[in-house]
Amino acid sequence: MSRIKNPPPANIVIFGGKGDLAWRKLIPAFYNLYIGGFLPKNFAIYGVHYEKQDEKWYESYMLEGINTFSRSGKAKPKEWKAFAQNLYYFEGDFTADDTFRRLGETLDANDKKWRNRAVRLFYYSVSPKFIDDISIGLSKYDLAANVSLDRIVVEKPFGSDLQSAKDLNKLLLAKFKEKQIYRIDHYLGKETVQNLMAFRFANIFFESLWNHNYIEHVQITVAENIGVGSRGNYYETAGALRDMIQNHLFQLLCVTAMEPPVTTDAEEIRNKKVDVLKAVRPFNKDNIQSNAIRGQYGEGKVNGKTQQAYRKEKNVNPKSDVETYAALKLYIDNWRWQGVPFYLRTGKSLQKASSVIAIQFKQVPLCVFKPNAIPDRRPNQLIISIQPEMETTLVFQAKEPGVEMKIKPVEMDFTYHDNYDTAVPEAYETLLLDVLEGDAALFMRADQVEQAWKVVMPVIDNWAATTEKFPNYNAGSWGPKAADELIKADGFDWILLPEAKQPAIKKKTKK
Ligand code: BG6
Repeated sequence: MSRIKNPPPANIVIFGGKGDLAWRKLIPAFYNLYIGGFLPKNFAIYGVHYEKQDEKWYESYMLEGINTFSRSGKAKPKEWKAFAQNLYYFEGDFTADDTFRRLGETLDANDKKWRNRAVRLFYYSVSPKFIDDISIGLSKYDLAANVSLDRIVVEKPFGSDLQSAKDLNKLLLAKFKEKQIYRIDHYLGKETVQNLMAFRFANIFFESLWNHNYIEHVQITVAENIGVGSRGNYYETAGALRDMIQNHLFQLLCVTAMEPPVTTDAEEIRNKKVDVLKAVRPFNKDNIQSNAIRGQYGEGKVNGKTQQAYRKEKNVNPKSDVETYAALKLYIDNWRWQGVPFYLRTGKSLQKASSVIAIQFKQVPLCVFKPNAIPDRRPNQLIISIQPEMETTLVFQAKEPGVEMKIKPVEMDFTYHDNYDTAVPEAYETLLLDVLEGDAALFMRADQVEQAWKVVMPVIDNWAATTEKFPNYNAGSWGPKAADELIKADGFDWILLPEAKQPAIKKKTKK
């Protein structure tokens, strides 16, 4: 079942092995890869954490994580037992030499047992302040010295501004080669985001329209209906621009706007993506005010339940100026996208969870139909829903059956639900398997991360130097008024999935 034949054995080390990410995402992802037959015959997973813990306790805690969060539901006892034989708790302080010495002995012993130098995957699922210590430890004991087999996975946040991202890259590159570093952005592992590549580059018909001649504007929305929950501590240091726009939304932007690659090689894909970010027209003091909008939620009702104001959330400063909503209007100054506005928005505690890329095409040059024959002259739209719905919808005009000429918009839908029986893997499954196989195409290169920070830096600086009257949107709404005005000023509206926004449109009968 493996993607590659006879994958080499693997030693997987998760620093922060007892943390939330390991519990909710990483171990369930490895478990699903295991039951899907994608892990090598010989593998071992070590969850490194400083506390003394009983091995049995660790196993049962991780089982609870799988039973709660795994997409395949509760673990089957037989499969779990077999998987758990390869899962170990590894007590170790990230700042102590001894941790890395013992780790080295353990990994070497596995290599010997398996009679093969295993791939080593070191996952930094830790607070950024430990990245230095772990890198020093790994390098001091030569644990990741084999450039072609040893891989370092670094979670976001990758820096908190351009300078800190540069420092972090410098630090990692002093110990490891770029080829070994996998900067993860889980959005790139999402099935629908990968499908955007297939959609654009495995089909002929959209490419000829995919430019400023035919596209009027592009919208990228990542709306969440949850608040910051228990993550107030982290969120106070981040905000929507750093937490979502600089990484996840920019990744969506890159996949939407990139030039066709020549191959799917990591370097080729990453070159094309970084070109997009390099072409983004820089924000400056004259355009920031009108092109960058921020918001913070106040109390409101989401799905009928009261959501408290951000300033009331746990570990949040009651006078916090941190934004929980951000919207940007930007331009990509290259031939393909000259003059086409891209609107990006994301926010927490919004009315509905919905991540959508919407392409609005230009109007036909001349409408030959009388206004009463075509009352809704909506231009063609291509709406790609990333989540929770996974569907692509093409909105176009069609004649209603009847003796009169009556034209109305209709939809053509492609949904995962109607087309496939196969289960959709979690983003982390795809990405972790890519790391094991040494494919970095879906990971960010140093220059791409830095370029993404470069784009948002003027906004970060401007927002730090100015204040906004917060809260400025109610939980359960669609965000601040100013964000609606941003897009309305250009004559457009935010587009959501057609059924959310345009219930009048009749859906195609499902097969
Ligand atoms: C994370 C952010 O990277 O992505 C969170 O830190 C956000 O604030 C999350 O909620 C969204 O991811 P997803 O996969 O649920 O859209």
